[in-house]
Amino acid sequence: MKVVILGLGYVGSVASAAFARSGHEVLGLDINREVVSNLASGNVVGFEPGLKELLASGLASGRLRLAHVDDPADRSADLVMVCVGTPSLASGGANLAYVRSALEWAIRNVSGASAVVMKSTVPPGTGKRLKAQFLDAAGIGYVSNPEFLREGNAVHDWFHPDRIVIGASSPIALKRMKALYHDMEAPVVATDVTSAEMIKYAANAFLATKIAFVNEIANLCERLDAHIDDVTHGIGLDPRIGSNYLRPGLGYGGSCFPKDVRALDFLSTSNGHSFELLRSVITVNNRQRLLPLLALREVFGALQGVKVAVLGIAFKPDTDDTRDAPALDLVPLLVEEGMEVRAYDPAADARKVLPPEAKVCGSVAEAVEGAQAVVLATEWREIVSSDWAAAARRMAPPRLLFDGRNALDPDAMARLGFEYRGVGRRGTILATSNTSAGSMGRALSD
Ligand SMILES: NC(=O)c1ccc[n+]([C@@H]2O[C@H](COP(=O)([O-])OP(=O)(O)OC[C@H]3O[C@@H](n4cnc5c(N)ncnc54)[C@H](O)[C@@H]3O)[C@@H](O)[C@H]2O)c1
Repeated sequence: MKVVILGLGYVGSVASAAFARSGHEVLGLDINREVVSNLASGNVVGFEPGLKELLASGLASGRLRLAHVDDPADRSADLVMVCVGTPSLASGGANLAYVRSALEWAIRNVSGASAVVMKSTVPPGTGKRLKAQFLDAAGIGYVSNPEFLREGNAVHDWFHPDRIVIGASSPIALKRMKALYHDMEAPVVATDVTSAEMIKYAANAFLATKIAFVNEIANLCERLDAHIDDVTHGIGLDPRIGSNYLRPGLGYGGSCFPKDVRALDFLSTSNGHSFELLRSVITVNNRQRLLPLLALREVFGALQGVKVAVLGIAFKPDTDDTRDAPALDLVPLLVEEGMEVRAYDPAADARKVLPPEAKVCGSVAEAVEGAQAVVLATEWREIVSSDWAAAARRMAPPRLLFDGRNALDPDAMARLGFEYRGVGRRGTILATSNTSAGSMGRALSD
């Protein structure tokens, strides 16, 4: 099958290379020449294990071509797939300007396509409107085919999907889509366009709610000296709940959850429904990001001149994506309070996204040198497994360690001389200060 893919970012680059691997003839196009030349020379966005190799084999096979939208190319296709960004507007609604211009471009420039496939995340109801506005007159069908891959695991997730959601406007479009995914072993959820769009938003909103919920439980544990690690273990064993997305911390960030949750809230309001639960999720998530600031104030009082290391700027490990990362809210606040901030991330270009007052360091060791406090904001393996004994020696008292991801062992850190704070873990240290037993020991000692 011949597929034109518009947008070669995190999703489009993986989709292009993966469809080529599945035997399709793919033309991947972007409006940004740098994006195209980077991909063509093996410089992939983020840290996607396997993507470089997948792109290289696709290009070598001749089934994958990458180009700028203005470059001359054979633009005939069976399907056009849209993978452009849908960022937030100031209102919280989704900005569909990129989607619209991609559709307009496709109608003018691609010949033979029977349907436009929307992989970008667009609010429920969008597809119906786009179809009526742009496609019906041209006799082109529409398919909503939301994507669920996770950055850092994108290639694996692509080839091992939990489900393939297809909201097709016609039986022929559905048949084409099944042929597109011919080699995937996953349940196909075939539905109408709006329901497919809603599946994507409902999935992200549910996961964001789970994160906000466990953060609220952690905040309560903090006040009641309960052990959040034991609580999440205890509820996570219930198969109706499950243990994923139950780790408390600085909250969700990234290019999807924050904008999609905001967009669903805006969509609800603009359709006469006040989605109170989602509002609370947004409030809780915004509040979680401030926890390190509150702990710093509690320990130091005035923060002017206090040296703090912030470790992890990307919104999660194994990506260089800093979109809506908690550190991007936190660091400017710390700078505002007069703190000397030293930041480190193994992959993200921190200089581009942090205020100039923050010093960007090349290693954990450099960042913690002379610092009185350290905030672990992203649980990169490199950061979690760094030499914390050496870090303690490099730091100055009181060695406040705010573990914003509950990724470190509180007792071990306390033994190294840190004043350890986690999220909902205050009771953990108190209860275990006389024992080196693990969580079973804690449970038995209660
Ligand atoms: N990043 C993820 O993990 C993820 C996961 C699931 C779904 N999504 C959704 O997929 C969509 C794309 O996300 P992303 O992270 O890949 O975005 P991105 O910002 O990384 O990439 C978008 C690309 O589209 C290009 N572009 C913009 N307008 C174009 C046009 N008219 N023609 C061709 N190219 C154009 C941009 O130059 C950019 O390279 C979004 O709607 C997002 O919500 C993302």
